[in-house]
Amino acid sequence: MIDEEVTVGHSVNHAEVAKHDLLNIGGVRHANEDDVAGRPNVAGGGDEIRFEVVGLGGSPIPNGDLVPVIDEIGSHAMAHDPEPYESESCHDAAPYLSSQGVSFRNSNLSRLDRRPAKPSVMSHDRLDKILESELSDLREAGTDKGSELVITDVMGAGGGLGPRYRLAGLDVEFIKMNSNSYLGLSRHPAVISAEEFATRRFGAGPGAVRFISGTYQTHLDLERRLAEFHSREASIIYSSAYAAVVSTLTSLINSETAVLSDELNHNCIINGVRMTRPAARAVYPHLDIGSLDKALAEASGTVSRAVVITDGVFSMRGDFADLAAINEVVAKHDGSFPQNVVVIVDDSHGVGAYGAAGRGTEEATDGSADVLIGTLGKAFGVNGGYVTGSEVLTTYLREKGPMYIYSNPITAGEAAAAEMAVSVVDSLEGVELLSHLAEMTNRFETGLVDAGFETIPGPHPVTPVMVRDTERTASLVDYLFANGVLATGLNFPVVPKGDEEIRFQVNADHTATDIDYVLSVLGEFGN
Ligand SMILES: Cc1ncc(COP(=O)(O)O)c(C=O)c1O
Repeated sequence: MIDEEVTVGHSVNHAEVAKHDLLNIGGVRHANEDDVAGRPNVAGGGDEIRFEVVGLGGSPIPNGDLVPVIDEIGSHAMAHDPEPYESESCHDAAPYLSSQGVSFRNSNLSRLDRRPAKPSVMSHDRLDKILESELSDLREAGTDKGSELVITDVMGAGGGLGPRYRLAGLDVEFIKMNSNSYLGLSRHPAVISAEEFATRRFGAGPGAVRFISGTYQTHLDLERRLAEFHSREASIIYSSAYAAVVSTLTSLINSETAVLSDELNHNCIINGVRMTRPAARAVYPHLDIGSLDKALAEASGTVSRAVVITDGVFSMRGDFADLAAINEVVAKHDGSFPQNVVVIVDDSHGVGAYGAAGRGTEEATDGSADVLIGTLGKAFGVNGGYVTGSEVLTTYLREKGPMYIYSNPITAGEAAAAEMAVSVVDSLEGVELLSHLAEMTNRFETGLVDAGFETIPGPHPVTPVMVRDTERTASLVDYLFANGVLATGLNFPVVPKGDEEIRFQVNADHTATDIDYVLSVLGEFGN
């Protein structure tokens, strides 16, 4: 049965519509009759392509208007894609059509209603009651995440302003002050093109984990590029930095290991350590190198191996671990551990976000990690995570890491996009973006201090406003929202009690006008 959502159908015969128009929909140039016959997705395997076209608000487009619509799609494809790749899919037109408020689909995709007559789930009335009660506790405490804002549109930068975002149900344009895309690379044309091109070449998904048949050339290219970027021998990519951290910790921590971890480390580190069975664990006070020194002294002689694990940048506060100081302390104790002291740094918020060359906390502190973990989903603007280090380490992680062995990698398209993003950061353009980001961060922090707000100053673009009160944090977030500014309020248990704050994240696509506007809204609210 064809889904009833399909409002109107239209059969297009090759005789009715100029063939080159149809071919242009697929972005194919210089096509001829043979091309059509040879392309099942374009020709539907026969003489007829069936389109279903629905106008704005679901009103049908009259059949007579279909040919001009197709013409328009075709000329759009040619105008915006002067060197179009060979494509086999009519769906090349879909993004353009949706931008025009027109939905479009090949009738082969019409949903068949094959739902079973009755859902076969058991009633969980008793469990549901418990879950509901826990949810209402969260709501009462004001610590629930609540409903999510849905971004429905992004307007590009222009006229001295950075990008603006539209949200479902609201006729307002927002400045995003809570994006991890520190360099604005998620919307960079070269990054998007790289993803598009590789996706067309290799497909939308990997189809298998890496060692079965899920390794694509773009994965290898990205791994090589990341190793080069970080001046390491090798690197290994994962579906996320979370997966990278958990997989690394579960591979390197064994029953003869002591683990030493900063108290404000990210949830992925806390959970990663929880999944292991080390001989000993110590949590040292935030950034307290003296305590780390003591903990290493206590562990020496009791275990074979020690793992020191820390965030590079602590994302709630924008402060960072002094890696040079950690290196010094570790060097002092390393000889007391038969299998060394290994320093693992998760610099997901640091790489690409600060340091004149974007090398993050290593660059900012002149220190180094033995095992460096990063994300491709923040400053690099794409998705995924990685570990970089020695050849033997990455080979070991490929053989031992559960999230690498049993879970799909990022897509070939994402890998190509991420490689392009790394290349952008590593270019003159990257240096300029980082310099502008540093300038905007400094402008914002200076403005906050001048207006009497408490912040944690520093070079990293995470700039907290310490409110130190749950209710006031909520009111300020609401006030910002009402004035078109998206920022994130952080309350217990995400931050310790008394550290309630609003986390602002400056991005390289913010302009001075944007920053001054946010400061003016904050000034109106008062401190
Ligand atoms: C320190 C740290 N590590 C890992 C992650 C997770 O990154 P991903 O989204 O790539 O899993 C985050 C994200 O918030 C983070 O702050």
